[in-house]
Amino acid sequence: MYTNILFATVSLLAVGNCYPGLAGGTLDGHGYRKPGPGDRRSPCPMVNSLANHAFVARSGKNISVDEMVNAIDVALNLSPLSSRPVVETAATTSTTGYPNTFNLDDLKQHGVIEHDSSLSRNDVFFGDNHRFDEVIYATTAAGLSAGGPVVSIATAARVRRARNRAARAVNPQFEFTPREDTFSQFESALYLAVFGNGTQGDAPMRWVDIMFREERIPYNEGYRRPTRMISNDDILELASKVAAAAPIFT
Ligand SMILES: *[C@@H]1O[C@H](CO)[C@@H](O)[C@H](O)[C@H]1NC(C)=O
Ligand SMILES: *[C@@H]1O[C@H](CO)[C@@H](O)[C@H](O)[C@H]1NC(C)=O
Repeated sequence: MYTNILFATVSLLAVGNCYPGLAGGTLDGHGYRKPGPGDRRSPCPMVNSLANHAFVARSGKNISVDEMVNAIDVALNLSPLSSRPVVETAATTSTTGYPNTFNLDDLKQHGVIEHDSSLSRNDVFFGDNHRFDEVIYATTAAGLSAGGPVVSIATAARVRRARNRAARAVNPQFEFTPREDTFSQFESALYLAVFGNGTQGDAPMRWVDIMFREERIPYNEGYRRPTRMISNDDILELASKVAAAAPIFT
């Protein structure tokens, strides 16, 4: 019994040490650094944040499915049950020549993970569908800020739909089916789950903004890896709340 308690305590401490920013706030090796020349990045700001903090290779090259799934767990405490299917789909865009690895910029392949009406990227029709787009994101940020210092589910949903309508209005090759709708719901659910309060939403706008704009995890502003795992059910619940609050297909 005593041995068990001792073992549990030691394991807990060991686990605590593995997760940067959880307890002491030290980032041991996971400090933020912008990508250098030659480093690859994806259309997804959360994924890029993981590379900018070295949870996956900072180069963004030849990243294995397991490495990415593990990074999402270690940095964000998001269940592998939720991340793995998405990462496996992402890996089908691979140009590395190795089974099961991909470069982050491979994810820009249109119609796999990447889709029209991204909150921070332009549509592929206009050329660059993977770099942060200041003009596109300005509208997103204005919409998110309009809700106040925390982003509610209702605000996230409104912003997602507004961006969708704006993209549809200007892109003659706009493509958005229920499949893309699902990915788009999940992306909103992801930032609400990671930065918000359980399945209630309410993510601090400042944290969300830093993730989009700098592709940085807002440790300096107080973010800590949550002690409770974000489950696949949490993500599904948030995604369906986002969809219900402002449906794109009605
Ligand atoms: C890419 O990753 C695979 C699988 O992890 C590994 O076998 C290979 O050596 C890596 N290639 C390069 C160029 O890093
Ligand atoms: C988180 O949500 C719960 C349940 O709705 C609520 O009771 C609590 O006050 C919220 N916490 C914060 C920090 O907003």
